[in-house]
Amino acid sequence: MSSQRLTASVSNYGGLGSFGAHGLKPEAIRNVIREIKALTTKPFAMNLWVSMEDEGAVASTEEAFHRSLSPLAKHIESVGGATPSYHPYEPIRFEDQVQVLLDEGISVFSFIYGIPSKQILDEFRHQGIVLIGTATTVDEAIALEQAGVDVIAASGFEAGGHRGSFLQPSEDSLTGTMALVPQVVDAVRLPVVAAGGIGDARGIVAAFALGAEGVQMGTAFLACEESGANTLHRKALLSGQARQTALTRGFTGRLARGIKNRLLDELNQNNIEILPYPLQRALVRHLSIPAEKAGRPELLPLWSGQSANLARCTHVRALLDTLVKEISEIGGAVQSWSAHRQLEEAQE
Ligand SMILES: Cc1cc2nc3c(=O)[nH]c(=O)nc-3n(C[C@H](O)[C@H](O)[C@H](O)COP(=O)(O)O)c2cc1C
Repeated sequence: MSSQRLTASVSNYGGLGSFGAHGLKPEAIRNVIREIKALTTKPFAMNLWVSMEDEGAVASTEEAFHRSLSPLAKHIESVGGATPSYHPYEPIRFEDQVQVLLDEGISVFSFIYGIPSKQILDEFRHQGIVLIGTATTVDEAIALEQAGVDVIAASGFEAGGHRGSFLQPSEDSLTGTMALVPQVVDAVRLPVVAAGGIGDARGIVAAFALGAEGVQMGTAFLACEESGANTLHRKALLSGQARQTALTRGFTGRLARGIKNRLLDELNQNNIEILPYPLQRALVRHLSIPAEKAGRPELLPLWSGQSANLARCTHVRALLDTLVKEISEIGGAVQSWSAHRQLEEAQE
């Protein structure tokens, strides 16, 4: 869903754009970094997943592939897709992806699903690259601080996309942003960035009140014209349909949040066999690519956080301008309320 244009636009208009590169081969990451640099001179972040595959991915069999294909097969046929055949899994190595980030020179490296080795973290530190680790629990935040990262992104379970949990299963790491952020702020000395469910200025102001020093917003930017989301996806985000989201392993094999639709509901049924990450993700692409061409959003993974229904802006610049304006309006309202209280107290 990341796009070079989205990343560069966010950085150009005052935010820190971030590109999620976990699914890309090293050479593709190199091209992406160069393309972003051609669009902005401002700092931006590259994001990777430390854990690249689930247990069992390498050993997963052709029989398992066919069992997981069976609930999708009729849909693939209905949108005119070709029936996929089994190919053994070819892993991409995290270490090779990391090497490209180091070679190309970036400003910020952010990551989820774990903590890179000390050697890797040292290499980034040596180059002066800011390190942002993602925590879905207080224990993960403490582990990230002990590993020496610079900033912690505390991700509440309202967030769109994947739960990047790494100490406990994702299902046991479902604290909401409102509860998670102040606990992380209390547990670590590092700056904390709040993520998950922040869809407008009210959410940003609330996150700062919880002790965060920044916010990470995904879903609101996904709805922007510059994002890599397809038109059907963006339309769904801006429609009332986005009021209902749910968690599923069905889209990729790992727990993630998307808009509730037919595909999500079907893959969440108990009798459905889901392949380990990233095999399920590759399988579902055999449906999502032709389903998009056929204009069938009910058969697409429509990634979204719980705040999608707050998303109104359709361009990055307009979104950032609105956020800044509304934050200062809220700030102004708080100041005049507090001045009013002081006056009342003085008159008593
Ligand atoms: C479609 C989508 C893809 C995402 N991919 C990544 C990713 O690869 N790495 C990551 O750290 N966070 C990823 N995120 C999470 C965002 O970085 C951010 O923390 C999250 O979207 C914040 O919650 P919100 O969606 O409620 O704004 C993704 C989010 C979405 C919606």
